[in-house]
Amino acid sequence: MDVKSELKRMSAELDGPIKSYIADEAPANLIEAARQYPYAGGKRMRPCMVVAACRAVGGDGEKAVPLAVAIEYIHNFTLIHDDLMDGDAKRRGMDTSHVVYGMPTAILAGDALFAKAFDIISGLDIPSDAMRRVLKRTSAAVWDLARGQQMDVNNENSGTVSMEDYIETIRLKTSVLFAAGAAGGALIGGADDGTVEAVHEYAMNLGVAFQMFDDILGIYGDPEKTGKSAGNDIRKGKNTVMVCRFRETAGEGALMDEFMSVFGKEGASDSEIETARRILKETGCYSYAMDMARDYTERAVGCRDVLPDSREPESMRALAEYAMARVV
Ligand code: IPE
Ligand code: IPE
Ligand code: MG
Ligand code: MG
Repeated sequence: MDVKSELKRMSAELDGPIKSYIADEAPANLIEAARQYPYAGGKRMRPCMVVAACRAVGGDGEKAVPLAVAIEYIHNFTLIHDDLMDGDAKRRGMDTSHVVYGMPTAILAGDALFAKAFDIISGLDIPSDAMRRVLKRTSAAVWDLARGQQMDVNNENSGTVSMEDYIETIRLKTSVLFAAGAAGGALIGGADDGTVEAVHEYAMNLGVAFQMFDDILGIYGDPEKTGKSAGNDIRKGKNTVMVCRFRETAGEGALMDEFMSVFGKEGASDSEIETARRILKETGCYSYAMDMARDYTERAVGCRDVLPDSREPESMRALAEYAMARVV
């Protein structure tokens, strides 16, 4: 199966629903800001996963579409706030929300999407016990995501972040939302508890692989292809996977000093960023990180083994593989 066209097919199914929930209201600038990220697209991995998980357990995927939209809105809310927090200027090939609309409107657009998501969930056509469980998982995920984002900020420029700390941070800031969506899709599909947990684990592992690879792209990616700036994680002193590996293995000495002279330097030039890139490659940290991300993808794929043999677990494999199918 061609991973990219499979995801395109799944994502196209969701385009209409994603654009159908935000009505024209006053003030128009808030509505426009709330629509900016959802309408621009993105990969839509999370909503595709909600529907794929529902189908994979034998459920009616249509019933999971509102949850898919809600999870995408929550994701978009966190992106708006994340871009503001990270001071990033580009997302999905566009200027970011706070750059276009200003900080107050960006904050409110995020809040509005967050509220709309729970409004949509409250309208799901499912039994009340399933509704309660979906609500609990989704709200717990957003709580954990806030914890993860705070850890991410706290870890900036810290010299003591271990690989373990990094993985815990990305499980919270990234995996939990994938997992709430996937488990929610499975619950809507009527899965038993063991199956819901397997789907949850699948998405937790996929989320780790996805964020690790995203962090690799954040340093080596081509902004033309990713639609996001590259190199800023170095400038901001983000302790991502390769940096954690470098700290674990480099020891003290000239190489460490050279790396540290660029890491966390807000105004680092492109050639200084290139130095950091070269060091991470030469020391094997890049290939170590790629291997680690691949390992998490395989773990995700393995968690699907309990699912019935149908086409949809294949969509879940496609999604897992897509976590790392993007170009460096
Ligand atoms: C970006 O997520 C934030 C991360 C958790 C890395 P995506 O890379 O899924 O962003 P879109 O939705 O495709 O724009
Ligand atoms: C984004 O993490 C995670 C969330 C939005 C919760 P990053 O800050 O690492 O992702 P990008 O690179 O901006 O997409
Ligand atoms: Mg960011
Ligand atoms: Mg961030």
